Amino acid sequence: MRQFGPDLWLCDGPAVTGAAGFRFPTRMAVVRLPGDGGLWVWSPVALTREVRGAVEALGPVRYVIAPNSLHHTFLAEWAAAWPEARVHGAPGLTAEVAGTAIHATLGDDADRDWAGAFDQVVVRGNRITTEVVFFHRRSATVLVTDLVQQIPAGWFHGWRALVARLDLMTANAPSVPRKFRMATTDRAAARAGVGRILGWPAQRLVMAHGAPLERGGQAALRNAFAWLMR
Ligand SMILES: [Fe+2]
Repeated sequence: MRQFGPDLWLCDGPAVTGAAGFRFPTRMAVVRLPGDGGLWVWSPVALTREVRGAVEALGPVRYVIAPNSLHHTFLAEWAAAWPEARVHGAPGLTAEVAGTAIHATLGDDADRDWAGAFDQVVVRGNRITTEVVFFHRRSATVLVTDLVQQIPAGWFHGWRALVARLDLMTANAPSVPRKFRMATTDRAAARAGVGRILGWPAQRLVMAHGAPLERGGQAALRNAFAWLMR
């Protein structure tokens, strides 16, 4: 667990295996909310004893966020560890898939419990998943899960390295993978969401799969979404 900005911590988890045997690095973010100092946990990683200890040192977990329908693997562990926490899921994520109750569905407005601390946008129009992107105001950080990625070159090997390169998962700048571009069947809906994201005064950029940027977040996002917005 390392502090990445004011009231913002990042924690890398073990790799998870996805479709076709692709192993992906994982990262979660933890934000301390103003007020009582409760924690807001985004895209939780595997809950090891070490991770649990580091989180408990920061404060009580109040919210667990599944920002798209793909990032739910560890929700049940977190919900069991902090039964008083509320689980907020992206549209389309069901309790059956998550294996735990989803207490609220994320929308285009910040939940009243964290209004003032975050802005958020639902990026619609994509057949793979509907992702909710957040802007943490105090640290000027955009949190994006799968829509923008920059996995280190050298992470994948053999034919998977080639596929990852062609898909732009391992491009030399944060990029929207080609599979997500091709899955964008409603470009107008996607543009409406991304347009709001590009309006945020982002400095930092955190991706679930990619090295975080400490500055230049807004420019990096503009570049990543240029194919959609031009
Ligand atoms: Fe992912």
